[in-house]
Amino acid sequence: MTEPTTTVPLSEIDLSDHDAFVERVPHEWFTTLRREDPVHWNDETDGSGFWAVTRYEDIRAVHRNPGVFSSELGGTSLEDIDPEYIEGRKSMLDMDPPRHDELRGMLNRRFTARAVRVWEDKIRNVTEEVLDLALEKDEFEFVGEISSEIPMQVFAEILGVPHEERRTIIDLGDRLLGNQDPEYASGEDDAHRHLPFSSPAAMEMFEFGRGLAAERRKAPRDDVVTQLATEPLTQQEYDVYFLLLATAGNETTRHTITHGMLALMENPDQLERLRSDRSLLDSAANEMLRWATPVYHFRRTAAEDTELADTKISAGDKVTTWFVSANFDESVFDDPHTFDVGRDPNRHVSFGPGGVHTCMGSHLARLEVGIVFDILLDRIDEIELTGPPERLRSNFFNGIKRMPVRVSPK
Ligand code: HEM
Repeated sequence: MTEPTTTVPLSEIDLSDHDAFVERVPHEWFTTLRREDPVHWNDETDGSGFWAVTRYEDIRAVHRNPGVFSSELGGTSLEDIDPEYIEGRKSMLDMDPPRHDELRGMLNRRFTARAVRVWEDKIRNVTEEVLDLALEKDEFEFVGEISSEIPMQVFAEILGVPHEERRTIIDLGDRLLGNQDPEYASGEDDAHRHLPFSSPAAMEMFEFGRGLAAERRKAPRDDVVTQLATEPLTQQEYDVYFLLLATAGNETTRHTITHGMLALMENPDQLERLRSDRSLLDSAANEMLRWATPVYHFRRTAAEDTELADTKISAGDKVTTWFVSANFDESVFDDPHTFDVGRDPNRHVSFGPGGVHTCMGSHLARLEVGIVFDILLDRIDEIELTGPPERLRSNFFNGIKRMPVRVSPK
């Protein structure tokens, strides 16, 4: 990647513009912001606006202080949600301590680095099965055949969803993650504003989760759903918890795998290095996560007047933290625009920069990405693009919708 050393006039930067992220990540915007205006006011077309925090250390400061920078006051997405609909939609992601910590405490121990190892064989099996199908062809579309399939199939395995119902949950997941790309219009409409993602698919996902809970109450297992189904949760709390699990690891892991594959194709020396030294799988997975930064930003709301990097922030202001900027902050990463599968240290913030909301699925996601590339490199000899990757129109997900490839299997 060419080093985006050029700076652009601050007046040209508009982080609310989804179109600016279609061709590529506008890294020169973030370079400019880090240098010239690290806590930057970005106007929005409706007359409101938000602070954009772009330096690594400032982002950490925001996330480590939930008392001042609240997830609960205005949610975590840039788009404002009508206060009357917030309650019914909010999961622990949109809560502050202490309730957040109680909810997270219910499942946290099943997602530690050690605990997620129980799913290792399942992840290997799913990956082998998905590759068996994909590699029957020499040319195929990588996202549809591989990177979108594996995360949802792994999730279905973890939940114990019967094989024949997998497709339902995968399709629901896809429909739910409505984003700003017209291709994936989520069916958002006024009748569904009380639901997560304002999408009717949320109701269907709730039904699916309720069905699984009913089964586990009849026949308990030592698993995530049994645990959730027997915790003291209201129906609404159970519904949104289930939905959070179903969605949080879906697109994020998909985009990491796709960007990881693309980065290896664009850096054949790194591909060969990883192929011949699998002890680099962990650092390679982390580098793919940094490189991809699947979630560009999250949002907080100032609970009181405060100051960040000499900038005054007023109570009620929206504050966005740009992980994609922190991950390329030259004061933290050497040669940030070089893809290095052996990068060490690699203190990327793709799972959040620390604090109570740090991704609960981070160890699972890392394990999954490592396994996928371990098996992929065993099974393919060569891989190349047969057309340009198509990117998602979104300032939230760094997504690739399609990536046509040609492979020679081993
Ligand atoms: C590459 C894959 C993934 C990425 C990049 C990712 C990224 C993130 C980020 C940025 C946050 C918010 C952090 C913050 O606000 O400080 C988060 C939260 C969360 N993630 Fe992930 N995630 C991934 C995979 C997963 C998976 C597989 C799961 C499955 C369990 C998961 C479950 C969650 C949950 C439950 C939260 C909310 C945590 C809380 O509010 O306490 N994520 N994730």
